[in-house]
Amino acid sequence: MPLFTKESLERLRHRIDLSEVLSTHIELKRTGSSYKALCPFHEEKTPSFVLQKGDSHYHCFGCGAHGDAIQFLMNYLSLNFAEAVETLAEKFNVPLQMAEEEENPGVGKTFLKQSLELASEFFHKTLLESEEGRAARRYLNERGLSDDFIRRFEVGLAPAFSRDFHQVMREHKIHQQTLLEAGLIGAERKNPFFRDRITFPIRNPVGTIIGFSSRKYKDETFGGKYINTPETALFKKSRILFGLNYCRRRIAKERRAIIVEGQIDCLKLIEAGLNCTVASLGTAFGESHVKELQNLGVRRVYFLFDSDEAGVSAASKAGNLFQKMGTEVTVVTLPKGSDPDTYLIQFGSQKLIELIKAGVDYLTFQVNYLSREYNPSTPAGKNALVTALTEQVKSWEQPVMVHESLRQVASLTHVPEETLGISGGYTPQPYLRQATATTGSIDPNRVLELDLLRWLILHERETFVEIAKKELNPHHFWVPICRQLFESYLKSEDHDLLSLLIDIDQGEAQGVMDEIMHKKINLDRAEEQFTQTAQKILDRDWMQNCEEIRVKLQNGGLTDEEILDLAKKFDELKKNRPEIQ
Ligand code: CTP
Ligand code: MN
Repeated sequence: MPLFTKESLERLRHRIDLSEVLSTHIELKRTGSSYKALCPFHEEKTPSFVLQKGDSHYHCFGCGAHGDAIQFLMNYLSLNFAEAVETLAEKFNVPLQMAEEEENPGVGKTFLKQSLELASEFFHKTLLESEEGRAARRYLNERGLSDDFIRRFEVGLAPAFSRDFHQVMREHKIHQQTLLEAGLIGAERKNPFFRDRITFPIRNPVGTIIGFSSRKYKDETFGGKYINTPETALFKKSRILFGLNYCRRRIAKERRAIIVEGQIDCLKLIEAGLNCTVASLGTAFGESHVKELQNLGVRRVYFLFDSDEAGVSAASKAGNLFQKMGTEVTVVTLPKGSDPDTYLIQFGSQKLIELIKAGVDYLTFQVNYLSREYNPSTPAGKNALVTALTEQVKSWEQPVMVHESLRQVASLTHVPEETLGISGGYTPQPYLRQATATTGSIDPNRVLELDLLRWLILHERETFVEIAKKELNPHHFWVPICRQLFESYLKSEDHDLLSLLIDIDQGEAQGVMDEIMHKKINLDRAEEQFTQTAQKILDRDWMQNCEEIRVKLQNGGLTDEEILDLAKKFDELKKNRPEIQ
């Protein structure tokens, strides 16, 4: 989690205009000094989502949704805190400085992004307007990639000769060091990294270009069919899900995603209306890819891989990873020789959707896949198959999923459940990683304090703010980061997320914002729930004070006078349990 400097956050805070942020995503109607809209967070026919002009927060009178620009982006696009801040910074043109950059001076990420943006414009223009571009466009058009497609996804052409590229960069005063660190030129001869290739911008989840994928369109061009930007400060291949910036909203909403192997496949599906499709960048799926999707709430993925051997084997491996991490996989099989791109050209999107619906669950696929290796028509072969499957399933992390999957293995392979040792009450092993990731790190104090902050920040009801101001002190918060946030909350006027963070110089704070936003509050009996939470915080303090006295008395070594004094204090304290009014 990056830590942005105070100064840059402050600059950004002054520039944010909530109505401008909202109006890119929802339709705002202005009446006098306020705006109204149909609430994007619940279904409704008459608008109850309102925003006062110049105010930093929106509010929905229908469902109680409430928040500032950052909260909106976090909820609407399922961004995390840092991504929401970066999106706003880009929108309002405020360069964000990362605190870490001070220790590690390189070209700032803002400059890298600028140079990539410029390169993309140049490539795009070259494809659309140059003589050389004509041939490349013919290649694309013949493959069924229209000029509309080219414009929509800013497809480009990196020309065969480097002169024009260097000239454009010089005109815009982009330094060689920047180009180098952005992966746009090679280290030795300073030649453009991409030459004589069609380029596809690779964007981060909020749409900023962080690199390119390029394909050669002539056989004689040097190098592999596809070449991507090398690893840079912005471009981390193992984490990027190609296409996510176009699909995040729908993926988060529907909690499912389609996964394809190729970038062109991905863009083609998005163009065909399946804007819930992502691809990895020519690498195998790794844990970070899975986590990225899980963070969006994804529960099921549909694999739409090439029908060749590589595709089937990739489905088996990547499928295991998703299942292992608790996300269910459906494997869709394309006809021999097809990939999603060619299938769409041949049969159209309706047929593709039908095919996706006919996909099979991972275990069914895996039984077939492994049956090619073991011969299940012999007892030994079947034994080997069932053993391999069982071992695989037992390595997964979610106990219930393991249990249910073992039962499914039994049914798919027609062996009695007892053979797999499940019906006799198979207890999955304690999963270590799981334990450290969740239960091991849960601090009840932190949970309680975050709950209170969540009510204050997400709901911001006037009575709550009053109670908090009247009854609670920063010292009631035992977790340092929560105490700082509460202090900041008391000081801030607008209670917007940025102003809460600005005074806190811990990188942890941004992570805490994610935690706060991650859990939804249930607005039924809000009053009661908030009061209970605040009361628990007071009780905790009170009990600790009582306990301290009790321990002192127990430890002995006190004079009679001291004992009497402490006993009196104890009685007093006992009688005066604090109570939220
Ligand atoms: N790939 C790669 N380098 C290669 C070949 C493939 O990085 N030399 C990656 C690309 O991400 C590619 C994916 O693997 O999109 C799937 O490979 P393939 O099916 O061969 O490519 P297609 O996506 O079908 O590309 P095209 O239709 O342009 O041939
Ligand atoms: Mn392919």
